[in-house]
Amino acid sequence: MTDDSMSDDVFEDEVKPAPTPSPSNTGYRDYEPPPDLLNHYSAKKVEEDLPIHKTILLGDSGVGKTSLLVQFETGKFQSGNFSATVGIGFTNKVVAVDGSKVKLQIWDTAGQERFRSVTHAYYRDAHALLLLYDVTNKTSFDNIRAWLGEIREYAQDDVVIMLLGNKCDSGSDREVRREEGERLAREYRVAFMETSAKTGVNVELAFTAIARELRARSCQDQQQQDRFCVQEYVRDQTQKTTSCPPCNT
Ligand code: GTP
Repeated sequence: MTDDSMSDDVFEDEVKPAPTPSPSNTGYRDYEPPPDLLNHYSAKKVEEDLPIHKTILLGDSGVGKTSLLVQFETGKFQSGNFSATVGIGFTNKVVAVDGSKVKLQIWDTAGQERFRSVTHAYYRDAHALLLLYDVTNKTSFDNIRAWLGEIREYAQDDVVIMLLGNKCDSGSDREVRREEGERLAREYRVAFMETSAKTGVNVELAFTAIARELRARSCQDQQQQDRFCVQEYVRDQTQKTTSCPPCNT
């Protein structure tokens, strides 16, 4: 008997280890989740992997920043006692734009003067700013120029800015006419619309317009970038939905 045949015998008797079962998606062997569940989780994963576009709500205390965000997120308006935002917080929202998805990370800031220095730190890496005034509060409108000055100082040069005249549902309490808002927006070359966090008028449109502009900007195709103009888009869309009460002042 040669050395070789001896070694063959030894290997024939060896007990082969059982193959390791491949892990399932759930961690439970042999369990196959239903396709709907798998689709749900793969869609969630796609959303998690989307690039984040930082969007900040700015404006005087009480203009309706928190209410606008709550209306956009939940479709609801919380009336009752006003409690001012303290500090800063964000929520992620995925917006569908022409079959693709844009992820907005929306930051709600405190409008009170004493929180201003905290808020400035967040401007620098913002991709978009929604600047609000209250159409029933002339001071909040007059302060917009100061807000735009701060934006110029602390934000990136190419940040997308949209001016929003909120509380357009307020009818006879109105102190700022729509035309005044339009004029100011033209002067600073920013998009403009009136909104109501109470009735929901133009709330979705404001965020969708921002998402469209950010998507166009992140597009590799230069032609696509040139084709979209947020000011024109907002003008066209708001002409279709003129559901805010006419200006009385
Ligand atoms: P700060 O947190 O202090 O910066 O205020 P804010 O800008 O977040 O204002 P907030 O959303 O808390 O709203 C202030 C008050 O205005 C609340 O009493 C809201 O109910 C009311 N309000 C907000 N949006 C609207 C609106 O579109 N229409 C009307 N009629 N009231 C609104």
